[in-house]
Amino acid sequence: MIYLDHAASTPMRPGVWEEMSEVAGRAYGNSSGIHGVSRDAKNSLEEAREEIAALIGARPQEIVFTSGGTESDNLALKGAAWGGDGRSVVTVATEHEAVLETVDMLKRFRTSVSLVGVDDQGQVDRERLAACTDDGSVVSVMLVNNETGTIHDVASLSAEIKDRHPGALVHTDAIQAYASETIDVNHLGVDLLSLTAHKFGGPKGAGLLYVREGTVLEPVLHGGGQELGRRSGTHDVVSAVGLAAAMRLAAADRARFNDEVGRIRDGFESRAVDALGAVVVNTPEKQRSPHHFNVRFPGVLNETLLVRLDQAGVAASAGSACQSGAAEVSHVLEAMGLSGLEARESVRFSFGWSTTPEEVDRAADIVIELVGALR
Ligand SMILES: Cc1ncc(COP(=O)(O)O)c(C=O)c1O
Repeated sequence: MIYLDHAASTPMRPGVWEEMSEVAGRAYGNSSGIHGVSRDAKNSLEEAREEIAALIGARPQEIVFTSGGTESDNLALKGAAWGGDGRSVVTVATEHEAVLETVDMLKRFRTSVSLVGVDDQGQVDRERLAACTDDGSVVSVMLVNNETGTIHDVASLSAEIKDRHPGALVHTDAIQAYASETIDVNHLGVDLLSLTAHKFGGPKGAGLLYVREGTVLEPVLHGGGQELGRRSGTHDVVSAVGLAAAMRLAAADRARFNDEVGRIRDGFESRAVDALGAVVVNTPEKQRSPHHFNVRFPGVLNETLLVRLDQAGVAASAGSACQSGAAEVSHVLEAMGLSGLEARESVRFSFGWSTTPEEVDRAADIVIELVGALR
């Protein structure tokens, strides 16, 4: 199988599983206990936390371990909306479902929610965003879009928001960004930031929410008060160690990743466009990540093409993972102005740390042949 669905999930990087299994065998105690076995687990957990914090310019106590991106986004938005005196939520139409479904739920429970649109490149309408924001808002803008690879300039957005409304909080879902972007919470100027390990070579079910010191959050999970009361539940030390390992390895490989994976993606794009002519690239020309490629093949429905690609040994998808293989219409592409039919003619190919030029060359041959036959 040629795996071109890295935006959905990635294979683990070599070494991550080994670090996890070493800790799983040794540090099996409950990290909240007082005896030596527990202390061993606690030490591994805190070492992982320190390493992770340093990798994103944060302090260890600002890292909250979670079960992944969905939980991190839920905690960021529900936590901010319900914390203290409560906050309104401002977000973008192209966010992941983990954000959009959360704000939908908040709206049903009477939180004021504003959904801001994007242009045809997927860039948020900055004026509208500013108009919807006040000092009592939490603003959530993703760093890299999971379907198209559109990059938002979160640092400048955040600076603009904070300039006008120093009381506002800014959250970013940086889940698709970590593999290619240097993440520094102070440079980004955010109060809350979500990451999940399985998008950059780590295990599934391991994530974090960065919470700037002083940010008032209402917990979503109540119980034993772990994570300074922000996320109760016995720590998953093994997952935290896997997250730290994947973050370290992905950061060390970032320069190569951007160079090689970007070149592979661009080569795939020019081969498809040159050979097939009438294709429309949905991924923006500028401010795009190196590893996403969303493309429309007019006259070819994605559900048909994806099945044929699968049969021919190429794994790709139609959008976010919950939509993979299903005939749902992408809310991201619709928000960028595509019709329902145009969105259903669109496919996402996404590349990652293990992608080789040879396999992408073969995949391009297969795509060109299948699209040609299906038109
Ligand atoms: C942008 C974005 N946010 C949130 C998520 C959810 O993360 P997880 O799968 O770890 O729950 C994903 C994963 O599909 C994503 O791509």
